[in-house]
Amino acid sequence: MKAILVRAPGGLDRLEAADIADPGAPGPGQIRVALHATSLNYHDLMVANGGIPTQDRRIPMSDAGGTVEAVGAGVTQFKPGDPVVSCFFPKWPAGRPFGAVGNFRGTPGDGIDGYATQFAVRAATDFTRAPQGWSHAEASTITTAGLTAWRALVVDGGLKPGASVLLLGTGGVSIAALQIAKAMGARVILTSSSDDKLARARDLGADETINYRQTPEWGARVQELTGGEGVDHVVEVGGAGTLAQSIRAVRVGGHIALIGVLTGRQGDVPTALLMARQARLQGLIVGSRQDQLDYIAALEATGMRPVIDRTYPLDELAAAFRHQETAGHFGKIVVEW
Ligand SMILES: NC(=O)c1ccc[n+]([C@@H]2O[C@H](COP(=O)([O-])OP(=O)(O)OC[C@H]3O[C@@H](n4cnc5c(N)ncnc54)[C@H](OP(=O)(O)O)[C@@H]3O)[C@@H](O)[C@H]2O)c1
Repeated sequence: MKAILVRAPGGLDRLEAADIADPGAPGPGQIRVALHATSLNYHDLMVANGGIPTQDRRIPMSDAGGTVEAVGAGVTQFKPGDPVVSCFFPKWPAGRPFGAVGNFRGTPGDGIDGYATQFAVRAATDFTRAPQGWSHAEASTITTAGLTAWRALVVDGGLKPGASVLLLGTGGVSIAALQIAKAMGARVILTSSSDDKLARARDLGADETINYRQTPEWGARVQELTGGEGVDHVVEVGGAGTLAQSIRAVRVGGHIALIGVLTGRQGDVPTALLMARQARLQGLIVGSRQDQLDYIAALEATGMRPVIDRTYPLDELAAAFRHQETAGHFGKIVVEW
């Protein structure tokens, strides 16, 4: 069967299309999934371009949408023909995070093989059902970006209607968070480097927008837009280069979901201001299988559908990553086959 492989030490020009062994029939507790789509995340880009070292011939991509082809002995939750979506942490069924989810050693497309291929045989618990009526491309956006936004706002944030939310940029996590926040009756302030993207975000319901290039002190602007109060929640995807402004933007007693590293992996933090804000700074990595099931139920109940910027065939995975690198996208980039 066809697969795309990352060749050590990584590099988009070294992604290799290969013919690899079919995984065969599912054993007890396993399912065989015909994979049809994956969506791109910054983490997948880092694995592919060597920013995160991985073993030679690793199959990349954490996200997958596909159809169950066969089930092994003892599998009762799926049957052939069921549409499914992959889990980022296959060994995290539910509850609070624990040791094994503090790294990516069990994550498909990083510590173990991922889903840039035609078929996978995995434990049934490595997947959940997909939302009814969704395409595989749409479902593949749930695993990483969608679930991260859900956990930030709902699981960790306890988002309530009427709360205010600050979102940074218009990538996969932020646009999923925009949709969740609006569906739940929150007020959204969103930043972007592009006025065109800000207009698209307003079309999706963003209440206030800020161009972070034109307004580098956007934390103060968020304070102005909230009558000097600050926002209840920040979905912090920038990291080192944005955290200080996010701390300025958050309200006293507010919540910052620390998610991303788009601007680097370490930097200065205004600790005295963070203390004065009495804000909760909560690091997180994606979520549990139960969180994914809860998110899928919310997606079905609200009718939210993901924003897909562009779709590529599997052979053009490198081109899809190059599109992501230029940050020209709005929402998710998907590869479909
Ligand atoms: N912890 C987790 O569980 C988790 C899960 C998913 C993602 N992440 C992390 O979250 C980050 C975002 O992931 P993603 O998949 O959404 O990435 P993405 O789709 O590649 O997002 C790229 C967008 O981020 C925005 N951006 C870049 N620099 C920015 C800045 N200085 N200020 C504000 N926005 C900026 C840009 O938006 P504009 O073009 O609009 O300016 C850019 O288009 C990454 O660091 C990723 O590793 C973490």
